[in-house]
Amino acid sequence: MRGKFITLEGIDGAGKSTHLAWLAEYLKSRSIALCVTREPGGTPLGEKLRALLLDKDQPMHLETETLLMFAARREHIEKVIAPALARGEWVLCDRFTDATFAYQGAGRGVANEKLGVLERWVQGSLQPDLTIIFDLPPAVGRARAGSIKSPDRFERENEAFFERVREGYLQRAKAAPQRIRLIDASRGIAEVQADLTVVATELWR
Ligand SMILES: Nc1ncnc2c1ncn2[C@@H]1O[C@H](COP(=O)(O)OP(=O)(O)OP(=O)(O)O)[C@@H](O)[C@H]1O
Ligand SMILES: [Mg+2]
Repeated sequence: MRGKFITLEGIDGAGKSTHLAWLAEYLKSRSIALCVTREPGGTPLGEKLRALLLDKDQPMHLETETLLMFAARREHIEKVIAPALARGEWVLCDRFTDATFAYQGAGRGVANEKLGVLERWVQGSLQPDLTIIFDLPPAVGRARAGSIKSPDRFERENEAFFERVREGYLQRAKAAPQRIRLIDASRGIAEVQADLTVVATELWR
């Protein structure tokens, strides 16, 4: 049986990595074979593209950034995500296309129509079975992430940028309520995990 495809989303410092690790353990304890991966990246070529995309000394046009994101995604789907799902593994991915709509779309201003074309081109009919967006005010995310010694190309952005990104995520959630679950991540870790457990049980239906 084909595995489930689960993506975790949210602005920087929202708790994606923290909760991904917890969810991975939770699913493993239920004997589910897992493929844990991330975007941009997840393949050797994708990780090289990630390094370019995050490099603070590598300026690029906003559409170049968008195209590199989707190029890395094309490779990721082909080499990692689709084969794992076909083997029956569940794929847990730290960020996916909703992040492109939020960061490059809402954050930087690339038109949704263009992103939609690329989404269809690169993904065909592939969509996550479940996407969890950890929602919180950017100031809280920033405080949690602490002082980053050398912030990357995205971490250097100001609070207004992250407000737009957050709004972009909220719009995605509104447009796809069947697929996307919003979790209030401004609360403590235990409360967020309690919600996560409820959301995860939907996957057995
Ligand atoms: N609900 C929470 N309450 C308090 N602290 C939290 C909570 N969730 C995560 N944290 C802490 O906040 C910090 C950032 O969390 P994490 O690295 O999981 O975020 P992230 O969404 O993966 O960020 P990034 O986008 O930068 O990778 C970590 O130190 C983590 O322990
Ligand atoms: Mg993280």
